[in-house]
Amino acid sequence: MELKELKQKFATVFGNECEDVFFAPGRVNLIGEHTDYNGGNVFPCAIDRGTFALVKRRSDNKLRMYSENFANLGVMEFTLDNLVNDKSHDWANYPKGMIKFFIEEGHKIDKGFDVLFYGNIPNGAGLSSSASIEVLTGTVLKHLFGLSIDPVQIALLGQKTENKFIGVNCGIMDQFAVAMGKKDNAILLDCNTLKYAYVPVVLKDELIVISNTNKRRGLADSKYNERRGECEQALKELQTKLNIKALGELSIEEFEANKDLIKDPVRLKRAKHAVYENQRTLKAQKELSAGNLEAFGKLMNQSHESLRDDYEVTGKELDTLVELAWAQAGVVGSRMTGAGFGGCTVSIVKKDKVDDFVKNVGAAYKDKIGYEADFYVVQVSEGARKL
Ligand code: GLA
Repeated sequence: MELKELKQKFATVFGNECEDVFFAPGRVNLIGEHTDYNGGNVFPCAIDRGTFALVKRRSDNKLRMYSENFANLGVMEFTLDNLVNDKSHDWANYPKGMIKFFIEEGHKIDKGFDVLFYGNIPNGAGLSSSASIEVLTGTVLKHLFGLSIDPVQIALLGQKTENKFIGVNCGIMDQFAVAMGKKDNAILLDCNTLKYAYVPVVLKDELIVISNTNKRRGLADSKYNERRGECEQALKELQTKLNIKALGELSIEEFEANKDLIKDPVRLKRAKHAVYENQRTLKAQKELSAGNLEAFGKLMNQSHESLRDDYEVTGKELDTLVELAWAQAGVVGSRMTGAGFGGCTVSIVKKDKVDDFVKNVGAAYKDKIGYEADFYVVQVSEGARKL
């Protein structure tokens, strides 16, 4: 939907013109999956799809929220003195949680506002539609109330909303990428220390293609928390001998020398993925910076294999998309991205092969899985901002 139409929609829904417009992107993680909550490195970038917020201040303490993506749910209305999770408020619990934690943090938010949201990231597809609306809300609050808060703090409050208000035990990667994204750059983020570096993504003859399995994630949240638990347990076993705070601190050699401390074969595989994927991410960043895109692509492929065999978070739909991608001409690398169990894959594809890629992978996927995949060519873009 165009901005002009969204402005008209705002006027129809709220009976007033909007004052300001904000945007927060979604993200795609290039490599470094399920490493963030293990204190490892991730390598995501913000994309040119995301969520818009059109806003008008109010003089009372009411919040009225409407999403064009959930038009059937109508306007959600609540007040600043009643910021509790309410099932019937559905998607609006994300912005609500943000407002609650801003206030708890001591930020002065004494008036309400009307807001219309519209997103062009597919929901629940592993491209961080929820982190996008969280960080977007934080960015709106910062500007509307003149708050001194930086994007990293906004990201942390987004993660807090997810963990403590929504109940998903996610790491910091998504909110960080959405808040801190930079055009044509990926972010190498050490989730143990929050130290980060921007790394140029130089693609001369290639494009980033996201393929959506269109599989609803279903049990994903409980499986996600289960993987976290398995890694925490493995860490405890390693800590009986090693002085470490996170799996991300281990080199491959240290892990191999001590892995017998982990008594269960499943936990051993989970920990192995966390350690190897973290090292692979560091290596991948170096290859990309050195201009070795082919080597970067191979590491993406290895990442997928590790997520499939050791971490076991892929499934038939993601594996099908990735295996089909690997078999296409002009594919530099392809892997699942995000939490897994459904959602999307990310592929780097030669520009002149993208049309064939979409055609061939699309047809073979439909053949095998029975329904269509969707494809988006994305650009690496800026983080959340006022437009
Ligand atoms: C989800 C979570 C992130 C991260 C990824 C897996 O996107 O929100 O914190 O753990 O899964 O890498």
